[in-house]
Amino acid sequence: MNILILGSGGREHTFAYKIAQSELCEKLYVAPGNAGTKNLAENISLSVTDFQAIKNTVLEKDIHMVIVGPEDPLVEGIYDFFQQDSALKAVKIIGPSKKGALLEGSKERAKEFMAMHNIPTAAYESFTAKSVEAGKKFLETLKAPYVLKADGLAGGKGVLILNDLAEAKQELEDMLTNEKFGEASKTVVIEEFLDGIELSVFVLTDGKNYKILPTAKDYKRIGEGDTGLNTGGMGAISPVPFASEEFMQKIEERIVKPTIKGLQEESIVYKGFVFIGLIKVNDNPYVIEYNVRMGDPETEVVLPRLQTDLVALLDKVAEGKLNEAELEIDERAATTIMTVSGGYPEAYEKGKEITGIENIKDSIVFHAGTKEVNGKVLTDGGRVIAITSFGKDYNAALKKSYQNVEKLHFDKMYYRKDLGKDLN
Ligand code: AMP
Ligand code: GLY
Repeated sequence: MNILILGSGGREHTFAYKIAQSELCEKLYVAPGNAGTKNLAENISLSVTDFQAIKNTVLEKDIHMVIVGPEDPLVEGIYDFFQQDSALKAVKIIGPSKKGALLEGSKERAKEFMAMHNIPTAAYESFTAKSVEAGKKFLETLKAPYVLKADGLAGGKGVLILNDLAEAKQELEDMLTNEKFGEASKTVVIEEFLDGIELSVFVLTDGKNYKILPTAKDYKRIGEGDTGLNTGGMGAISPVPFASEEFMQKIEERIVKPTIKGLQEESIVYKGFVFIGLIKVNDNPYVIEYNVRMGDPETEVVLPRLQTDLVALLDKVAEGKLNEAELEIDERAATTIMTVSGGYPEAYEKGKEITGIENIKDSIVFHAGTKEVNGKVLTDGGRVIAITSFGKDYNAALKKSYQNVEKLHFDKMYYRKDLGKDLN
């Protein structure tokens, strides 16, 4: 099978790493890819939302399966684009239909879906520019902190958590009437604040059958002790130590099963990953958000633990026969540490030479924002390289990741040194 992976981050390098190990994969392409995927696959320069360019590549390279890494092409309807094109219809796309992708593309839609299918989540109401005054009144009925969410995709920046009521009202006004997050904040969801510890559960589904993949916890803030601005993710560990068997049972019964049943009841075509962001409050799980793809950097710890052939598994998804697959998971823990460019998640410089990669032997180096120029590997994004390690538990795995991250160098390189400390 010839396979195309869409995307260019650590997540996509990890997919490429697993898929390149499969005997079922003949030729592997990544578009646009990075300096890491270049060693495992052929990189193709195109934009992941340029469906016509993707179509041309798929036909030219005789691609049989497309794995969609990021959310944008899914929310823009890449699945439906393939289904509606007679030349592409037979190509297996791993990802939900446009209707399914709305679970990430619209926070309001996700909340309605959860309400409809009795899936536990924070209480909410949504507002538009017309109802901004009602929104302010609703805020007055809540206790601090106040959670405001732009309805649409805002690159992970659309959620504000504010302690002060006056500030929350002002932000609501900015989002709705001044389009603080552009189109994305034309509708704003205001939610009850849930106080607890977060974890993520990944579900692979063909729309009726499902498999629960290993859990993961990511570290979202730039600063140690979970302080400072939100990032795409500064590291991750899998499995999550506090996700006991009993707690996982609650997640499966109260959240995973009703989610898959909801997709079926609403006739939503969904052949891909559901990434469920959860919060544990008094031993009970609540959904914070759905994403319709794998997480980054969660993928860098979840997929390496998967011992089942990934191509065979994804083929079952595409065929609607996921019930026939068996998951084998490595018992060991995996951790990843993300190195980032100085200044990230605000302004940062690119084009710094990265050295020391070849000295890292007993961890896996996953490239995120990198590119190769004249044989040199240069930084090309905020998140640059993730170092994944295995260990008997997360502390042992982290120790290895931290030993190896020190072998890596680029100007103004930064990483968090406190991963896992919140769990000890
Ligand atoms: P989201 O983009 O929906 O995942 O929100 C970003 C982050 O905001 C989450 O990872 C949580 O840390 C936090 N968050 C979102 N919704 C809530 C909530 N209702 N209560 C507490 N924290 C929340
Ligand atoms: N690490 C969070 C995400 O991929 O959305």
